[in-house]
Amino acid sequence: MANRLEIQDLWVSHEGKTILKGVNLALPLGEVHALMGPNGAGKSTLGKVIAGDPNYRVEKGRILLDGEDITELAPDERARKGLFLAFQYPVEVPGVQVANFLRLALRERLGEEPRIAEFYARLKEAIELLDWDESVLSRYLNEGFSGGEKKKNEILQLLVLRPRYAILDETDSGLDIDALKVVARGVNSMRGPEFSALVITHYQRLLNYIVPDVVHVMMDGRVVKTGGPELALELERRGYDWLKEEVAGA
Ligand SMILES: Nc1ncnc2c1ncn2[C@@H]1O[C@H](COP(=O)(O)OP(=O)(O)OP(=O)(O)O)[C@@H](O)[C@H]1O
Ligand SMILES: [Mg+2]
Repeated sequence: MANRLEIQDLWVSHEGKTILKGVNLALPLGEVHALMGPNGAGKSTLGKVIAGDPNYRVEKGRILLDGEDITELAPDERARKGLFLAFQYPVEVPGVQVANFLRLALRERLGEEPRIAEFYARLKEAIELLDWDESVLSRYLNEGFSGGEKKKNEILQLLVLRPRYAILDETDSGLDIDALKVVARGVNSMRGPEFSALVITHYQRLLNYIVPDVVHVMMDGRVVKTGGPELALELERRGYDWLKEEVAGA
């Protein structure tokens, strides 16, 4: 059985409007892929649909995780299978402290109560890697967090939950170079045969720190081109117009 996340001819709509128009994409376990494309191409929608966001309707196609069709599974069931989505705009959860949130999320992920010693060991290691202070653990989730702190918190979740497939939707905008480095450090520390990530980003800049194995480009609801890291450099240099023409001419 192939260990991979696979999107097959995925068509998705929202309130009657078709957003994804036949997405095909394969992310083998152990690889880090970047997903690029202009505003409104459908990148975030794809990420949310992979995670099981009920606001979108799958009209056609399927999502396979390690060969199993997960298209109809609830988000928590997907999380248990090792899928993780970090949101482009992180939510505030008033009244829930960071540590408690992480413990609950880890319970979801494992399908059982995490061992406390193990949980705290993971937390400590992650906090150190992020150059953070343990006092953050008693703060309320994302409440009053700066953009950079929200980003750190997202990566903290990644490090504690240790998913097998992570979808990271990165705004880039508003993130300073240190925040980008935090994302990169987190992702790079997870890299290995049992981890893969789909990093959604606009800018080549992040990909200087997280060097992807493969780059996909989405336009108008489809993946229109797939290549190596050099594709991101080419897009940075030339923009998207040439690719639009290439797609139109095909
Ligand atoms: N919940 C929603 N309600 C209405 N329209 C939506 C919704 N989600 C997505 N869309 C529409 O689908 C299209 C794709 O949006 P999406 O957010 O997936 O693009 P994106 O590639 O992530 O763009 P960006 O680079 O700006 O983040 C847009 O036209 C958007 O307005
Ligand atoms: Mg987006």
